[in-house]
Amino acid sequence: MLLLRIPITNDNSTHFPLFPHTTLMRKRIALLPGDGIGPEVMAEAVKVLDAVAKKFKHSFTYEEAPVGGAAFDVCGEHLPQSTLDVCRRSDAVLYGSVGGPVNAQDQLKWKDAEKHAILGIRKALNLSINVRPAVVYNSLAHLSPLKDRIIEKGVDILIIRELLGDVYFGERGTKGKRAWDVMDYTEDQIAPVIEFACQAARKRRKNVTVVDKANVLDTSRLWRKVAGDISPRFSDVAVEFLYVDNACMQLVTHPSRFDVIATSNLFGDIVSDVAATLPGSLGLMPSASLGNKVHLFEPIGGSAPDIAGRGVANPVAQILSAGLMLRHSFGMESEAVAIESAVKQAIEQGARTGDIALKGEAVLGTKEMGDRIALLIDR
Ligand code: IPM
Ligand code: MG
Repeated sequence: MLLLRIPITNDNSTHFPLFPHTTLMRKRIALLPGDGIGPEVMAEAVKVLDAVAKKFKHSFTYEEAPVGGAAFDVCGEHLPQSTLDVCRRSDAVLYGSVGGPVNAQDQLKWKDAEKHAILGIRKALNLSINVRPAVVYNSLAHLSPLKDRIIEKGVDILIIRELLGDVYFGERGTKGKRAWDVMDYTEDQIAPVIEFACQAARKRRKNVTVVDKANVLDTSRLWRKVAGDISPRFSDVAVEFLYVDNACMQLVTHPSRFDVIATSNLFGDIVSDVAATLPGSLGLMPSASLGNKVHLFEPIGGSAPDIAGRGVANPVAQILSAGLMLRHSFGMESEAVAIESAVKQAIEQGARTGDIALKGEAVLGTKEMGDRIALLIDR
């Protein structure tokens, strides 16, 4: 079948005639809603993706597969092979959230569910680079736990975390009263992370902070060596080094100093949660995990079982994750920007779910928030 490729330009001027009814791109998206609020917020992300498809004349088709507790109910595993097959035959994976309340009846269902599901997919799809933006919206700056004088300087941080090395996948074991998890890195695992961070910084404020613990750890010294080898190729980017303890402190005392952070798996896990507190709600935080073929996109907040099924969760993190998918998997920059602008506009116009509302402000449900954002795409 003939696929017409029309270059998309930023200014709406094109050297080709525009065919209003021609589909520009066809993409298959694997949807893994998972547990808790996952299915509710996923429905809103799909609503927004459909609005993007309509506006930009793309065609998105979806294939849903169970993961986590939802998969355990069906087949007794948290990450069935059939779900991995769905991921592999898709152009990208949109992941919801996994996990549930640990209680006596459901111990097996929830034990290690998050770990089995997400670490299994990361490994299977070779997702080695994790991208986590932490941006404070001006109109929500009051939600930040930080003082005004710190927040008003602006917070726009991009965390690039290595995702397949370190203590997460190193040698491990338990013997009697002893247990160990080996922190292990090779230069080949580090180099792509540093390169990705430098490239991202080039399009931003041209600053990369490598976060490590080089005063103690050999693996961190290896990170510094690799960063030192690569940085001369990015002469327009300033690369600096910061110990992880100091980085956590500065993230809360001086967040505006950070542009792009590049770091290892364990430090990235910790540093990204510290940064995630700055915008004031986990419900706003998307992420991208990039591999060599199919990438995965997920909100970084969990499955929030306490509010699941009530239609009150904030769908913004899932919607922004869909935006990252358009950018990183499909090369649809204008479409990604359309989602990000619609979210920003909805928030500026006062659209609030419970997690981002002040006392007395009108609160929207999950669906209404999704409707508002989808409507702003349509316009
Ligand atoms: C994250 C999570 C995971 C991690 C857990 C659920 C295994 O905390 O994505 O940050 O540690 O990577
Ligand atoms: Mg984490």
